[in-house]
Amino acid sequence: MIPLIPTRILGMGSFVPPNCVDNTELSKRVDTSDEWIRTRTGILERCIAEDDQATSDLAFEASVSAIRDADVRPEEIDLVIVATITPDMAFPATACLLQHKLGLGKVACFDLEAACSGFLYALDVADGMLASGRYSCALVVGAEKMSSILDWEDRTTCVLFGDAAGAAVVSKKGKGPELLGFQCGADGSDPSLLHKPGGGSRMPATSETILKREHFLKMNGREIFKSAVRVMERAVRELLDKHSMNMKEVDHVIPHQANARIVESLAQRLEVPIEKFFCNLDKYGNTSAASVPLAIDQGRKEKKFTTGEVGILVAFGAGLTWSATLVRF
Ligand code: UT7
Repeated sequence: MIPLIPTRILGMGSFVPPNCVDNTELSKRVDTSDEWIRTRTGILERCIAEDDQATSDLAFEASVSAIRDADVRPEEIDLVIVATITPDMAFPATACLLQHKLGLGKVACFDLEAACSGFLYALDVADGMLASGRYSCALVVGAEKMSSILDWEDRTTCVLFGDAAGAAVVSKKGKGPELLGFQCGADGSDPSLLHKPGGGSRMPATSETILKREHFLKMNGREIFKSAVRVMERAVRELLDKHSMNMKEVDHVIPHQANARIVESLAQRLEVPIEKFFCNLDKYGNTSAASVPLAIDQGRKEKKFTTGEVGILVAFGAGLTWSATLVRF
């Protein structure tokens, strides 16, 4: 099952806006408390972009670092995929805006929308496109300005999310961690579990939709919590089965950073010590598609992953979507 020539991560980068807001500060804005947020989620603070900063600006900063880290020339990149649910605008794609900002060639660019699983979906898609031989070097980005779609009057959601971007340069030529396998899935039976209903073709923007706050993220937190644990466990087990591996052979799990209790439940269900899980959600909250690349980038900068070790990246998100990726550092 392992591809003959695996795709490798040649370099990575990430960016969080400097304005960090802790729980106590947030509790001045909405009816919440540091104690509630900390004990129910593990989040202590999150970073919020400036009003004039859009998702492509966050993506740009992360991409510049990733391209530098990969030591590739910008003209070598011939594919750009941006995973996001908070594009700069409905169209054109944020990937096209990013291409221009970075001064890349007139190469293929598109956005991919799989919510918090988006970055891992994008790695899977990039791997397939590289395997076709028609592309040789891809910039894969997960970037979100979640603060732009949060209802700052809804304490059940606004305390959970933050803004960030993470980027990877991937290719089948060169050196770096190998992507050994992918497992993506989705269940579209109940979109209302986590959605932003307004602004699409089903509910175009009107003054009424704005008054009803339909342009903000809405979530059934309890149901998402239960599904998250179930689908991430299944994705990890299916991925390992495909590769005739077991959890004992996995050194690190880098999960989507939504809630510390979700991570603990996943660890219990997979019967893996929590120490194997890399978490940074205390600092950044849930940054959706940016969450996994931001975590990998931070982990590698802290030298948590040793060459040759095996990791599983796993995420879930609106859709519901889920995705797991096997990596050898
Ligand atoms: O990337 C995917 C994104 N989504 C997620 O990963 C979210 C998954 N779900 C969760 O993380 C959890 O369900 C939440 C953190 C959202 C909520 O935690 P919970 O333990 O499931 O709380 P709950 O929704 O059952 O609410 C418990 C109580 C409620 O009050 P009552 O009805 O018991 O009186 C809420 O109104 O907590 C109240 N509450 C709050 N209180 C203070 C909800 N949000 C807050 C808040 N501050 N921010």
